[in-house]
Amino acid sequence: MLAEALRTTAKIGGQTAIILREGTSRTQGREGQRGNIEAALVIAESVRSSMGPRGMDKMLVDGFGDVTISNDGATILDEMDVQHPAAKMMVEVAKTQDDEVGDGTTTAVVLAGELLKKALELIGRDIHPTLIVDGYSAAGEKALGYLEKLAIKVNPADKNMLGKIAKIALASKILAEHKVHIADIAVTAVLEVAEKSGSQYRVDIDDIKVEKKPGGSLTDTTLIQGILLDKEVVHPGMPKHVKNAKVAILNCPLEVEKTEFDAKLNIENPDQMKSFLDEEEKILKDMVEKIATTGANVVVCEKGIDDVAQHFLARRNILAVRRVKQSDMEKLAKATGGKIVTNLDDLTKNDLGEAKLVEERKVSDDKMTFVEGCKNPKAVSILVRGGTERVVDEAERALHDALCVVRDVVVDPRIVVGGGATEAELSRLLRIYSQKLSGKDQLAAQAYAEALEIIPMTLAENAGMDSVNSIMDLRSKHHNKQRNVGIDPINAKVTDVSKLEVYEPLIVKVQALKSAGEAAGMILKIDDIIAASKSKEGAGGGPPRGSEDGAKEEGEGEF
Ligand SMILES: Nc1ncnc2c1ncn2[C@@H]1O[C@H](COP(=O)(O)OP(=O)(O)OP(=O)(O)O)[C@@H](O)[C@H]1O
Ligand SMILES: [Mg+2]
Repeated sequence: MLAEALRTTAKIGGQTAIILREGTSRTQGREGQRGNIEAALVIAESVRSSMGPRGMDKMLVDGFGDVTISNDGATILDEMDVQHPAAKMMVEVAKTQDDEVGDGTTTAVVLAGELLKKALELIGRDIHPTLIVDGYSAAGEKALGYLEKLAIKVNPADKNMLGKIAKIALASKILAEHKVHIADIAVTAVLEVAEKSGSQYRVDIDDIKVEKKPGGSLTDTTLIQGILLDKEVVHPGMPKHVKNAKVAILNCPLEVEKTEFDAKLNIENPDQMKSFLDEEEKILKDMVEKIATTGANVVVCEKGIDDVAQHFLARRNILAVRRVKQSDMEKLAKATGGKIVTNLDDLTKNDLGEAKLVEERKVSDDKMTFVEGCKNPKAVSILVRGGTERVVDEAERALHDALCVVRDVVVDPRIVVGGGATEAELSRLLRIYSQKLSGKDQLAAQAYAEALEIIPMTLAENAGMDSVNSIMDLRSKHHNKQRNVGIDPINAKVTDVSKLEVYEPLIVKVQALKSAGEAAGMILKIDDIIAASKSKEGAGGGPPRGSEDGAKEEGEGEF
């Protein structure tokens, strides 16, 4: 390696030492900082127009020509294939927001962008970035404190209120027209899987299985009190409809196991052949008998089911599906109250799950098995329908947001007013706070306060309102103690949005402030970008670009 010509050098103990490999690019100081901030701003700008109920959608075309149409900040950025390291950090903001709370991804990214934009102005006025970072961090802490005070406590089991939250999360999405129906499904699904421990609830969103099938319309989207398996009944002779189902949930194959080593069998006459086959048949028949004696009338198997076993199951009037995904098996066990059995010998009556109805139905072109009417199911399914594949895909993402916000409120039952009202109020409070400060701290706190106004401003802009006038109006109303005044993009008005029932979970806002602040701080603290050369790698022994991409494609294909 040392033989390679290295470029950047330094004097160490009077000697010139080579530090960085040739081709390494280095951008330092102001130039580096500006480059980073500008790249991050491009990202924030790219999602800005999608915010709010009047936001636009984005059409993203990937390297294979596949088209995604979305309004979801995290999805848009994920599809964008961002290269710049600072811009990638903005993408991570959206991802964290999505993972943690499921909504508010656009808000977090836009806010991070505005914090950086204001910081750039301060840097231009010769304020050191470290001071800005410290000032932002103090202002951020204050804002979180104010936010908690602005929060409204609610009843986590109040379906009506949860529905309002879900409707607001859906307001900006493709399925906004059907938000009442979808919000209702989201609320019922989350409350169904919520588990109470003490005075609090726990909700695992993974207990809600979302299956999508293009066809029909968004209004055909339904909640199933149980599990929907994207599998058909294995044998035509089996019943397609079983009432009062007793479900055996097996993760062992209903097949004669093949030996792991090579074995030779010498068959010398037809009788031997027949007895060999009979023996195999007997093993499979015994398996089916074992299942039948427990009283099971449905078998759901993670592994394969031999043709002969299928035949015996059909004779016993047992409905069976095979090769079910592991994650579905777990959900099925939760939904039906059954147990996953790994060894058929252990199967007893008590392991069987229960469902009112197991039925194979045709959905679009595919046959699916519905396990419905489970008593007190701890896992449920939602079948998303819609005109085309793209509509169903975006509907699924919107449903994810709705499920997440309902979960957020059930887990932490505090909400805040949306429509930029909360951000405007925080901005006002921070301005008052900044008056107690002096010098550069004050400037940083003021910049933070101003940055928060980007949320109502964007909502106004996207609604075609005069954004400067709207912000002035908003400020003066908040100054007059009208803390619930925000932007109503639908009627293009600055008004009390709490009257329009625009609410969001507190934790969505908390997370947005946290991740935006952290990302802005991190980007601001970088003053030196040292990037290894790419072309050198391609020419040398390193993996050529093509193969790198190839590896990525392979990985992606798996999911
Ligand atoms: N009917 C409404 N009136 C006023 N404001 C609304 C209304 N519906 C939604 N909003 C506001 O729109 C903003 C949310 O917009 P949007 O859902 O596009 O972005 P996000 O939640 O930040 O990100 P994403 O949903 O992409 O993860 C919130 O500030 C919310 O209060
Ligand atoms: Mg949203």
